[in-house]
Amino acid sequence: MGKTISCSVLLALVSCFLLQFGAALDTITPSKSIKDTEVIISQNGVFRLGFFSLANSSNRYVGILPLKDSSGILNISDDGNLAVLNGKNEILWSSNVNNTAPSTTTAQLRDSGNLVLSNGDDAGSSLWESFEDPSNAFIETMEISTDVKKGRKVELKSWKSIDDPSDGNFSLGIEPFNITELVIRNNNQLYFRSGPWNGNIFIGLILMYTDYLDGFEVVADNPQQPDSMTYEFSNESMLIYYELDSQGKFVEREWDAGKGEWSKNYPVIQIDCDVYGKCGAFGICDSTKEPICSCLKGFKPRNIEEWSRGNWSSGCIRTTLLQCERDNNNGSGAGQGDDGFLEMKMMKVLAFPARSSIINGDCKDQCMNMKNCSCVAYAYDSGIGCMVWSGDLIDVQKFSTGGVDLYIRLPSSELDKGKSSKIIVITTVTAGIVVITISALFLWRRMAKHKGRNKKRKQIKHQFCSENIGENSIGVKLQQLPIINFEEIATATNNFNHAKKLGQGGFGPVYRGTLDDGKEIAVKRLSKASGQGLEEFMNEVVVISKLQHRNLVRLLGCCVEGEEKILVYEYMPNKSLDTFLFDPIKQNILDWRKRFNIIEGISRGLLYLHKDSRLKVIHRDLKASNVLLDQELNPKIADFGMARIFGGDENQANTKRVVGTYGYMSPEYAIQGQFSEKSDVFSFGVLLLEIVSGRKNTSLFNNQDYFSLLGYVWKLWNEGNIWSLVDKVVLEPKSNLKNEKEIRRCIHIGLLCVQEYATDRPTMSTVVSMLNSEISNFNTPKQPAFTQTPLITHDVQNRASVNGVTLTDFDGR
Ligand SMILES: *[C@@H]1O[C@H](CO)[C@@H](O)[C@H](O)[C@H]1NC(C)=O
Ligand SMILES: *[C@@H]1O[C@H](CO)[C@@H](O)[C@H](O)[C@H]1NC(C)=O
Ligand SMILES: *[C@@H]1O[C@H](CO)[C@@H](O)[C@H](O)[C@H]1NC(C)=O
Ligand SMILES: *[C@@H]1O[C@H](CO)[C@@H](O)[C@H](O)[C@H]1NC(C)=O
Ligand SMILES: *[C@@H]1O[C@H](CO)[C@@H](O)[C@H](O)[C@H]1NC(C)=O
Ligand SMILES: *[C@@H]1O[C@H](CO)[C@@H](O)[C@H](O)[C@H]1NC(C)=O
Ligand SMILES: *[C@@H]1O[C@H](CO)[C@@H](O)[C@H](O)[C@H]1NC(C)=O
Ligand SMILES: *[C@@H]1O[C@H](CO)[C@@H](O)[C@H](O)[C@H]1NC(C)=O
Ligand SMILES: *[C@@H]1O[C@H](CO)[C@@H](O)[C@H](O)[C@H]1NC(C)=O
Repeated sequence: MGKTISCSVLLALVSCFLLQFGAALDTITPSKSIKDTEVIISQNGVFRLGFFSLANSSNRYVGILPLKDSSGILNISDDGNLAVLNGKNEILWSSNVNNTAPSTTTAQLRDSGNLVLSNGDDAGSSLWESFEDPSNAFIETMEISTDVKKGRKVELKSWKSIDDPSDGNFSLGIEPFNITELVIRNNNQLYFRSGPWNGNIFIGLILMYTDYLDGFEVVADNPQQPDSMTYEFSNESMLIYYELDSQGKFVEREWDAGKGEWSKNYPVIQIDCDVYGKCGAFGICDSTKEPICSCLKGFKPRNIEEWSRGNWSSGCIRTTLLQCERDNNNGSGAGQGDDGFLEMKMMKVLAFPARSSIINGDCKDQCMNMKNCSCVAYAYDSGIGCMVWSGDLIDVQKFSTGGVDLYIRLPSSELDKGKSSKIIVITTVTAGIVVITISALFLWRRMAKHKGRNKKRKQIKHQFCSENIGENSIGVKLQQLPIINFEEIATATNNFNHAKKLGQGGFGPVYRGTLDDGKEIAVKRLSKASGQGLEEFMNEVVVISKLQHRNLVRLLGCCVEGEEKILVYEYMPNKSLDTFLFDPIKQNILDWRKRFNIIEGISRGLLYLHKDSRLKVIHRDLKASNVLLDQELNPKIADFGMARIFGGDENQANTKRVVGTYGYMSPEYAIQGQFSEKSDVFSFGVLLLEIVSGRKNTSLFNNQDYFSLLGYVWKLWNEGNIWSLVDKVVLEPKSNLKNEKEIRRCIHIGLLCVQEYATDRPTMSTVVSMLNSEISNFNTPKQPAFTQTPLITHDVQNRASVNGVTLTDFDGR
């Protein structure tokens, strides 16, 4: 028979919300049962439990159980279970738990709508809860979850029909696929998927792109906890719940006090394309087209006759084999270069992505390099990283907004074809009927649109960080940043043990730590002594919590308790670049390939800061000690304590307080306090030349011809003698033409970046293109800054003080 007293029933009764019921009880005890027409009411009168009928049915229900007459009883039976009895005292349903203290057992209806069975024994823990045995309704604070370890699943079940609450065909739950998703199943077959949770949103739900799912909380990817989803709004005068209806639609219902009914519903799924695998493998669904299904480019229907009848289930097949497939059949592994990728914008992320384990390099390279054609598509999301697909591509859907950029592997012969046939495609498309069913995912927008509907708990948790930074001068709202409590951090770092100290960061010491689950972290603690550090701390939180890129160090959480202000980062086992570059022994590890990879990584990270992220960020303190290296020596830019976020059209700013590090500062910044993208480009140029030469820019050059690394490079460049600049390690293996070309290119780029005038320097996007040899004829570099004068330390200070600019040195890490 199944479930009783489920939320659905309780909700059916919620319509009596806020009516006064006198002194009705909220608890059933062994001596106090309720008969039909009697009710119990939660303490504040929010929920009421009793017997009821549905529209056109003469059955009476308490829960999903039809009672044929009005003689039912809800009682705590002798064995301590909650039980429903009929007039003949026959048990129709029981909560079916083992109860050691039946006589003290009670079932209490709480104001949350949860009916909780407990005996005083187990320190208040419950024996059974209606929230853990749900029906079709999702009420505030209820939790849908999947516990793989325990094999336990709490999911919604649809009703059979509007007047039959027994289990229908649909269920809604959280699925811990490789990346967690919310799914609806129809008779256990996948029916709808939300796309993976990326830490903020489900990326396959269109409108979650424009608004956050405020009030909703999803736990995913946490080995400590089962995957789960819950919600809680802070506006208590609003009564809303969600329901999985008997047609498999997930709808929102809101109590309309004026009309005295549950009104408005916003279905999550409405359009055909939302149905999982609508167009079969390699078919693409676009609701604005007629018919909605077509084959992906380079594919044709598997069964043309079926397809033309509108039976798309068998999908499409390739018209031409991939090069890698052909190579495989021939037993040779080479020649994969002949495949390319078709870019498709605004796509729903496909079913069953594998999360790429490799963090090195581009998703594209990774996909290309996977053996035996085992990657046929990829996509990137900053919260997730690279996602790759093998085998059949299922649930390909075109969105009207949001979505990811999807790249589908095709043989280059197919990619070329498109260029000539594009016009035909476009004309066909415009012939389609344009029916954009925005309402499909309206629900998720609404969840977010309402003011004051933020999750209560979240607000409390983020109180301090948001209070102090909040919607501040730069007008950006803090994103969800997990709070890690002080206790946990203290334990992880062995009470900030000196032995765990990694070094000194911009505003305090950095420790290495290990969390309970074995995860390694780096902990930066704001020194209490430093008054100035607070600003940098807050700045770092604001800047870095908004950024995600594989070449930026990742902030995992923050802790603000009392005097303590702590940031927690991913741990970088190889510390910073300078510990390799300027160490006579460790520098031998960095051969040219590794160095070039580091240069490329830094350039991408910087490009992301300047151009690709939603904000324009100037780092202002790029240097070797602020570039951290992960396990595989991939670079990640760190320390955003001095970074500045720029508004939309702002390109340049002035500061009275010049902060940064000698030797990396551009002349206009060091002297006039003027900074822009181009001042970061300057620092990048210095860093690049340091990487190639293995020498510090600030190492003393006691020579009248040059006073700094820049001057030295310039001299060698003009003499056509660049190879004496290059670190010996880098020149191995000897006479490697490819390496030599790259090294020459890098020195050239480095010199372009350190030119005296900001306007002469390339932008980071040009730098990235030049590094990738997309641009071949470079400008001739002009003389770099700081070649004529030993302007490394004293001179700057002198000039600076003349102009009333204070110079703060944050170096020494
Ligand atoms: C509850 O049901 C049991 C039958 O299982 C019965 O013995 C008991 O008297 C009932 N209690 C009340 C208060 O009706
Ligand atoms: C009840 O039955 C009437 C007539 O059969 C029908 O028009 C109505 O839609 C039904 N109501 C519900 C809620 O099913
Ligand atoms: C209740 O106890 C019996 C006997 O000890 C056991 O077989 C059964 O699995 C238990 N049921 C639950 C739900 O724990
Ligand atoms: C549920 O699925 C079964 C089997 O596919 C079907 O016969 C039945 O009509 C479905 N019920 C509803 C309410 O859709
Ligand atoms: C569609 O085609 C498949 C075979 O590819 C078949 O099993 C299925 O019954 C067909 N569906 C309809 C509605 O004709
Ligand atoms: C191997 O490749 C050649 C040329 O690409 C092709 O003609 C031949 O059919 C292939 N053999 C097999 C078994 O696929
Ligand atoms: C998970 O990822 C692996 C590869 O890492 C892939 O083979 C598998 O199909 C994926 N499973 C699911 C359920 O997505
Ligand atoms: C990939 O190729 C290797 C050898 O070429 C083979 O051993 C392996 O089974 C293949 N894997 C798949 C998934 O085809
Ligand atoms: C709470 O919801 C009610 C009803 O929708 C609305 O009138 C009120 O403005 C909301 N309060 C806040 C603080 O948003």
